Amino acid sequence: PSSDRVERLLAELSTKEKVGQLIQYFYFALPAGIETVEGLDPFIAKQPQMVEAALADGSVGSLLFVTDPDEVNRLQKLAIEGNAHGIPLLFGFDVIHGLRTIFPVPIALAASWDADTIERAQTVAAREARAVGIHWAFAPMVDIARDPRWGRIVEGAGEDPLLGSVVAAAQVRGFQGDRLGADGHIIAGPKHFAGYGAALGGRDYDEVDLSDQEFYNTYLPPFKAAIDVGAGNIMSAYMDLNGVPASGNHWLLTEVLRDQLGFDGFVVTDANAAKDLETHHFAADTTDSGVRALNAGVDMEMGIFQPAFEHLTQAIDDGRVDIARVDEAVRRILTVKEQLGLFEQPYVDVEASKQVLADPAHRDEAQRAAERSAVLLRNEGGILPLSPDALQRVAVLGPLADSKRDTVGPWVFDFDLDETVSIAEGIKARLSDAVSVAVEPGIATPTRTFPSMFDSFGLSGPSTPEDFDPEASFARAVELASHADVAVLVLGEQQDMIGENASRSELTLPGDQQRLLEAVVATGTPVALVLMNGRPLEIGWAAENVPGILDVWYPGTRGGDAVAALLFGDVAPAGKLPFTWPRSVGQVPMHHAITRSHAPQDQGKRYWNEASTPLFPFGHGLSYTSFAYGEPTVDAATAGIHDTVTVSVDVTNTGDRDGVEVVQLYLHQRFGTSSRPLRQLKAFERVEIPAGETRTVRLTVGPDERRYWSAATRDWVLDATVFDVWVGGDATAEPHAEFTITDD
Ligand code: IFM
Repeated sequence: PSSDRVERLLAELSTKEKVGQLIQYFYFALPAGIETVEGLDPFIAKQPQMVEAALADGSVGSLLFVTDPDEVNRLQKLAIEGNAHGIPLLFGFDVIHGLRTIFPVPIALAASWDADTIERAQTVAAREARAVGIHWAFAPMVDIARDPRWGRIVEGAGEDPLLGSVVAAAQVRGFQGDRLGADGHIIAGPKHFAGYGAALGGRDYDEVDLSDQEFYNTYLPPFKAAIDVGAGNIMSAYMDLNGVPASGNHWLLTEVLRDQLGFDGFVVTDANAAKDLETHHFAADTTDSGVRALNAGVDMEMGIFQPAFEHLTQAIDDGRVDIARVDEAVRRILTVKEQLGLFEQPYVDVEASKQVLADPAHRDEAQRAAERSAVLLRNEGGILPLSPDALQRVAVLGPLADSKRDTVGPWVFDFDLDETVSIAEGIKARLSDAVSVAVEPGIATPTRTFPSMFDSFGLSGPSTPEDFDPEASFARAVELASHADVAVLVLGEQQDMIGENASRSELTLPGDQQRLLEAVVATGTPVALVLMNGRPLEIGWAAENVPGILDVWYPGTRGGDAVAALLFGDVAPAGKLPFTWPRSVGQVPMHHAITRSHAPQDQGKRYWNEASTPLFPFGHGLSYTSFAYGEPTVDAATAGIHDTVTVSVDVTNTGDRDGVEVVQLYLHQRFGTSSRPLRQLKAFERVEIPAGETRTVRLTVGPDERRYWSAATRDWVLDATVFDVWVGGDATAEPHAEFTITDD
């Protein structure tokens, strides 16, 4: 419901002032002391003056990319004094996995399968963001990603709609707290509505062609979950969805988002996505772009280059837009400003913000999250954990071993490298001075073939020094490995190889890393491979030849401490893969919830040159102990269509140390209105089980878990049929039970 203040303002604002509220500008100020950046777009260079002129003219609703609290205050003052009504600005930013304290990348947080950890991470991120004057995160990214060539897989929760929904809801709760406008919290903006992750060929921004059943059953649930817990904003996507651009798509932004999902917050476009309707060959010109985006259901355009919404004042005067639609959008934006308390307190306490950013408890949270995110992919012969007391010489090798920039990962801007702990540093700090730790990259840092869009921000990865001699470093690395008790090899993708506009046609270890890996393994010294990545990589050789493989993703500010704690067994890994890990790029897209057709799985639906199975299944992840599953039982062999069936299973920790297991339930519907996946994750629980003990885990399958959208009826259906369930530690779980659902 709208407040008296909002209604009074709506009555007082001129058309131009209303349109101003619907525009968000990037504010690309260069960092203090930097006058110019080589190759910077001249438009971007003069953009701060243009934006400040618009602020002084009262025609801006929101800014993005300002994170300096002094700058927030200065620009806020310009805005408030620039309009006769004293309406404050809303400041938005990409708070993806932390502001100053950097948490593991979102795909890593998802690998924890731990809603509490994820909520806590975004609570810290929100606290830091709010302290510097940011009101709204362009996060979480809740796009399902099944094609790892797509660079933005790193920002989401992977392939599965249930895991994606749990992760989405946890992030929204973390950002927003218990209500919109809660102290120390910010508005969450789940993105990119909708289907963006299904980009053709995994190429960022490419078109998406999704059947309705894929759209409703796979891609929409995380958005629904985020909206159900009260997300205040949604970002509309760039690409064409079934031939209609998402940001000009009335069916998507009004019928689905408002009418079906019940969203009542405000919609912002991705950057310039209203203006882009012309680029799509959808709108006739820039004015038409603005009109069609607004009429489709967009409330605010995020603008880099002269947004289309600048043309709306004229379009309204020409009668091309119903003023009621404009008022609706303005009302939503003024309402969120009011919920945030900005009319009362638009400015930031700069001194207080410094204390919040320096809070050591935030760094501890980041370490805890990194420890919970790591996935132990292989542990042949129990090579891990390493015993610190048994070591005299450790070789820490690889181009990412001592790279702080890669440790914090992509999509971060305000990190502090001085306080970032690289993996080599973490290992050194964990071991006593009596242990010699030698660090050597072994090869030059692999680089992208085409530059990154972030290069001009000075945010790319470290370049190899000019005097670096790769062959000498390679030889030194192999020599160090051969004399060490253990070699920890840190490989993967440099952080700017993944993220927005960072799609890749290969999944290999970039550069000369495979050669280094094979040479280090050939020394005969035990090797622990630590992977830094946001997508699955082609590591088939390593999966057969390297005994210990720990995926630590991009683990954040305290990544090195977390990795050391994991390698030396202070904590045991318990993460599970949030995606199916293919053997090769030719297998993608690949996910666990496939259907069966003409031939059995192992005879059909496969390439003749490769196994049909992935390298690691969805949900896979080992620990330093082992778990045994009993046969699951159901509380009712037959149940009614609206009933919930409880599946119970005994899980025993059969090792000699305490551990955590993510118990997963997969469901299969034997027959019905549509063909259903052979297996689909439908419930999970993260359980702590002391060594030698057994826990009975109960998971439920109710109507919500069985309901799906069917192309046969073009509606949601619940079938009376027979169901199989498997419960175990990954998507290949064998312990099985079944139950029948009847019509009554
Ligand atoms: O929030 C992002 C979005 O995810 C991709 N395009 C740019 C936006 C603002 O940085």
